[in-house]
Order: sequence, then structure tokens, then C-alpha cells
Amino acid sequence: MSILITNIAELMTQDLEHRVLKDAAVVIEGERIAWIGRAADAPAADDAVDAGGRAVLPGWVDSHTHLLFAGDRTAEFEARMAGEQYAAGGIAVTMNATRATSDFDLTRLALGRVAEAVSQGTTYLETKTGYGLDVEHEARSARIASTAADQVTYLGAHLVPAGQDPEAYTDLVCGPMLAAVRPFVQWADVFCEEGAFTAEQSRRVLLACRDAGLGLRVHGNQLGEGPGVQLAVELEAASVDHVNYLSAGDVEALAGTWSGWDAARGTGERGTVATCLPACDLSTRQPLAPARALLDAGVQVALASNCNPGTSYTTSMAFCVSTAVLQMHLSVHEAVRAATYGGALALHRETGKDADGERAVGSIAVGHRADLHMLNAPSATHLAYRPGMPLTYAVWRAGVRER
Ligand code: NIG
Repeated sequence: MSILITNIAELMTQDLEHRVLKDAAVVIEGERIAWIGRAADAPAADDAVDAGGRAVLPGWVDSHTHLLFAGDRTAEFEARMAGEQYAAGGIAVTMNATRATSDFDLTRLALGRVAEAVSQGTTYLETKTGYGLDVEHEARSARIASTAADQVTYLGAHLVPAGQDPEAYTDLVCGPMLAAVRPFVQWADVFCEEGAFTAEQSRRVLLACRDAGLGLRVHGNQLGEGPGVQLAVELEAASVDHVNYLSAGDVEALAGTWSGWDAARGTGERGTVATCLPACDLSTRQPLAPARALLDAGVQVALASNCNPGTSYTTSMAFCVSTAVLQMHLSVHEAVRAATYGGALALHRETGKDADGERAVGSIAVGHRADLHMLNAPSATHLAYRPGMPLTYAVWRAGVRER
């Protein structure tokens, strides 16, 4: 079954050549993109969709979410808006609520959040464990997450639960907990921050997870300058997320990780993506991550929602993109790229893996997964020009129309 989407005013491909085509068309065949080009040259297809002069871009790739949770932290948010500082301890409130929730309800909540994200143009997403924080509940979160999200990250090292010895808990995270989640996860993450895990504990967790075959990510430099970025660089993590407080040395170290990467070809050795989480920055009243400086230094940047009940209760990637343009000084093209190709790069899915049939996501090119986001607007610029407006008009995920 093939579908021709034609009369596209602007097709922002986010491909390796950064092409933005006017008066364009796309042909989808099954789950893949079969053709892109000028509408006047489009081949025939089984079915046709008239875009009516709207813009089409890749579906959002949300590379950092925490969707496996129950409960509510409105009171904590209100206290923060009244001047309280964010502290990692709030995670325990969600841990208690999550542990007390049945499998059925936790699954329903996670799937509901995924559906909410997809309805706003997200077509590929990662999610984390991290609100179970014992062997039984981390394994349960990982199992449920694997049925809801495209990729799953183990975050047993999110907080040391109250009353537990930090070193003994770290041993648990590196040992029995890791073994229990392992069948369900591809990545490991650690909250390397004051009040969470020290650099040494974080290194221990990351090394154990790497030995178990997991890719690495780090929550780092969110609440102050700290060791997170340097640890991520040292261990060749796929991403370091938050990155609000960076020294010149941190930026330089991140840029250095991309020296073996050929951006024009999309080949070579991937470095550590800096994942910026603007909705979280605003909700915690932290300075916005220095995405402009990171891009200027040659670092590959991703934008993600960080949907979670404590610091960023939103799945809106459009909000992140408009904030990145309006307040972080990215161009629209750069912001959309960070929220599509950048996320794919952070998840190592910017290229296809033909052997196991997985297709590239985060850009529109022949052979890539047909993940498309049509805006009810003639150009992607409207994402920033009309911030907060519900601009998602249609969504295709792996060739299936979701909205
Ligand atoms: O990404 N930083 C650590 N984890 C989450 C917050 C989790 C919470 O407070 O519940 C974050 O912001």
C-alpha cells in the first residue's frame, strides 16, 4: 500500500543535506519513505493525501522521558513557583505512589502519556525507569516501559531511597537490580548530582551497566557545575542530559567527542550528545541550557521533553522547540533538528540497521521510517511564531496515520 502526500508547502527533511523543499511531495510505502521531491514530479500511488499547502517535518524524537509513574506533585511545583529550590528528594514522593499502583494502572498511565505525545507529533520515544527503586519495582517499570516506548533506559540510580546506605544501594543497582531489568532495557542512566549519586557511585553504576551490554547516558550538570559531563565524556556516553551549568572545559570536552564524526555523511564515531530540556529548566527555574554555545562549539544537541511529574510535566516537544527559538537563540531549523535528528542521534537511531529491520528515524529520506508530522501551518517557523498553538494537523508513525 503506497500513499502520496502532495501539495506540501514546506518539507523540512532534516536529512544530511539539511534540505527544505518547497511545493513538495512524499510517497510512503508500508512503513518506509519511498520517494520525496517536487510535487510536480511525484509518482502515482495507491492513495493520495492533499496537504493543502501545509508544512511537513519529521516526527519528533523525544529522547528523554520518565513516563512510568503514578501520583501528583502539584504542591511541590507550587512551592517552587513561590521560591523553593528544586531538590532530588521529591523523587521519593513519586516512588511511593508508583509502587502503590497496580500493573494495570501503571501500564494505562504510561500508554496514555505515549498517546498524548503521539497526538502532538512525537513518533519515537525513549523512557526511563527510576520510580521503582527496588528490584521488584524497577523490573516491573522496565517491563511495562518496554511495551510502551521505543527504547528503555534503566535509571535505578535516580535516588537513594530514604534509610538506605548509599554504597549498599549502589551495589544493589549494579547487581541484582541490573540483572532483573536487563531483559527489558537498552540503556543505563545515572542522576549524577549533589543529593543523588556522587561521581564515584555514578562511575560504578555506569561501568557495571556497560559490562552488561547497555549503552550509557548521564543526567548531569542540572543543579550546578559538577562531574556529570566529564564522566559522560570519559565513558563515551551517548548523551549527557540537562547540561544547565557548563564550564568552558565541559563545552570543550563535549565538542572533542565529535572530532571523529563526519556530520555531512552521518558517519564516523558518534560523540556525546548534549540533550537540553527547556521545559524542565523553566519548571525548575534553572538557567536555560546553553544550547547556542554548544552548537557553536560543534556539539550535537538534542531537545527533549523530560516528561516527569517533578520537574517537567509535559510531553510537548513543540513547546521545547518554541522555547529553544524564542529564548535559547536557536534558529527554527536548528531547534527542529535538535528535536528530531538530534534525538535520533542520542538514541543511535539516526541511521538504519538493516540487519534487524530497524529503520532510521528523525529525518525524512528514502528508506527511513515514515514518521511524519504535518503542521496546520505553511512553515515550521509557525512553531515559534505562534507559540503554544495546537499546530499538529496529522501524524504518521511507521507509515500508519495516528492522527
Ligand atoms: O530529569 N533529574 C532527575 N530526574 C528528573 C526529575 C525527577 C523528579 O524530580 O521526579 C529530571 O528532571
